[in-house]
Formats: sequence, C-alpha cells, structure tokens
Amino acid sequence: MNETSPLGAYPTTRLRRLRRSAWLRRLVRASRLCQDDLLWPVFVQEESGGPVSSMPGVERLSIDQLVKESHRAAQLGIPALALFPVVDDQHKSPHADEALNPDNLACRAIRAIKKEVPEIGIIGDVALDPYTTHGQDGLLAADGSVANDPTVAVLCNQAAILAQAGCDIVAPSDMMDGRIGAIRRALDAAGHSQTAILAYAAKYASAYYGPFRDAVGSSKALGQNDKKTYQMDPNRSPQEAWREVALDIAEGADMVMIKPGLPYLDVLCHIAQQASVPVLAYQVSGEYAALQAAAAQGWLDFRPAQMEALSAFKRAGATAIFTYSALETAVWLSE
Ligand code: PBG
Repeated sequence: MNETSPLGAYPTTRLRRLRRSAWLRRLVRASRLCQDDLLWPVFVQEESGGPVSSMPGVERLSIDQLVKESHRAAQLGIPALALFPVVDDQHKSPHADEALNPDNLACRAIRAIKKEVPEIGIIGDVALDPYTTHGQDGLLAADGSVANDPTVAVLCNQAAILAQAGCDIVAPSDMMDGRIGAIRRALDAAGHSQTAILAYAAKYASAYYGPFRDAVGSSKALGQNDKKTYQMDPNRSPQEAWREVALDIAEGADMVMIKPGLPYLDVLCHIAQQASVPVLAYQVSGEYAALQAAAAQGWLDFRPAQMEALSAFKRAGATAIFTYSALETAVWLSE
C-alpha cells in the first residue's frame, strides 16, 4: 500500500500505536548500542594522575594506572582502546624523533597492556603531533608548510615501531595523501602483515579538537597555526569524504573513521551506506566537553544526552564509536 494513499492515512494509520509501552518501543528499535560498539580513547603520560581540565571525568594515566583501567575496560566488554601519548616537552623536536624511539611512552604502554591484559585490543595513533615542537601532524618544509611525502616516510616507521611493540591496529590520523598504501607496504615489509589499519579517512579541520589538544599539550605548540592544509574543509560536499574513503580503501585500509562525530553525521551516513569496510565514528573531545559543561550547569542530564548522541551514531550507520565516556557508558549498558 502506498503510504500516502487514503487507506494508509489517519485515522486508520496511527503511528503512536507502536509507542504505547516500553516493551513495544524496545521491540521495534532498529539499532541498539552495546558494549561492543564502544572504543575508548585514553591519554597516557609518564607520571600518574593528571585530570584534563577541559574534559571533566577524563584523566591522563600513567602506564600502571592504564594497565589497571584496561583490565576494567576489558571486563566491561570494551573491545579495544585507542592510545594517545602525552609526551614531555624534553622529548619533542621539530622532526619528531621520539616517535621513532622503540622505547617511547606509547610503545612501553602497548607492551605493558599486551602483557597484563592481552584480551583487549590496542589501537595506536599514527601522527607526529604529540612529538613535534610545532604541534603539526607532519614535518615542516623550509617555507613552513607541512611536507607530505617526507612525513609519510616517517609515519611508515612510526607505524612499524608501534606494530613491533604489539599494537593490533594502527590508526593514521594525520591526513597526509598516500600514507595508507605506504604504511601497508612498510608493515608488510617489516613482517606485520596481520596488523590492521584504521584510516582516519575523513577528518575535518574542526574547532572541536580543542580539549584534546589541551590534553596532549599540542595547543600551545600549535599557537595561532591551524591544520587546514591537510584536514578537510567542513564546507566541502560529502562526496569529497567519499573520495578520501575510497582512496584509503584502495590503498589497503581495513576500516575507516569519520571525525568529528555529531556535527558530521550526514557524512557518516553517506559513507556508511557505500563503504565495503567497517565505518567508525569519533565523538571528539569538544563534543564530550560540551555535553559535560552543560551537565555541570544543570542544563542537560549527561547520561540520557550522551546515550542519545551515541545512539545517533549507530542509527547513522557507525560500526563502532570512539568515545571518552566508553567506560561509564559500558557500565550504564550493563545495568
Ligand atoms: C591529531 C589528533 C587530534 C585528535 C586525534 N588525533 C587532534 C588534531 O587533529 O589536532 C582529536 C581527537 C579529539 O578531539 O578528541 N593527530
């Protein structure tokens, strides 16, 4: 029957019929959030205990603390965590040399988690911004621009070092052209053919990354500079995002990421309908901080607002979601 035909119209058709009771609403849901959907981004630093002031409820953890929390995350059913190192200033340099140190903070954290909590997956960030004095994700050319191909060469080594430390999935978040294919070849050549690549395929130059940059200390390094020559312009069409995704898949990406989350739900939906690989979404630091700030004022209730946001990612087609509330949300889901 045509839904606009007279027979399908009110009063015979009453859409409220399926909203009458809790069990009925549960019955007819098309998507449901569960623990398997939650991936946990975490900040690791050398010292213990460092709250991130712009992200209430988020702490920078020492390796010991991280191992404990990883154990909890695994018990709560979270499949994997995504590791972001907070690198001491003394280890930052213009060429990000520390990124290639096999004993750097990220590698030590990976080895510790693999040893103590082998049942949780580890996603390692591939990008140079935690390690550069200038805060850019890549190396600078003489004119101050971010140099694509020299950066890709370093990213390949960074990815191989993370894989060597035991990282299960490497996640290039840098947005250089051609890096997925180059990293795949480098991993294979180094004997890491089973290490998967999660490409931050469509990553926009967003104002919502502010609290993350505070957390890893790259905002003061970046100063007035931005990342608009490599991260995507928010006003391009979703077709450009599709082109980024299609290229990354062709180059060997096993999964792709759309980022940020809620402000780019149209892009996520567009990609999820076409992509042949799992499509992940990232509820970024600014989205999390905005909800927390409103909740702290008493203007929103964090739990239902956050559940609604995360459910929206599922409805739009996300296979899984990076969220700073992964642990808390997993607890809610188990209640
Ligand atoms: C940088 C990186 C960023 C985030 C993840 N990796 C920030 C940036 O691009 O400046 C942001 C994540 C967040 O805001 O939660 N490689």
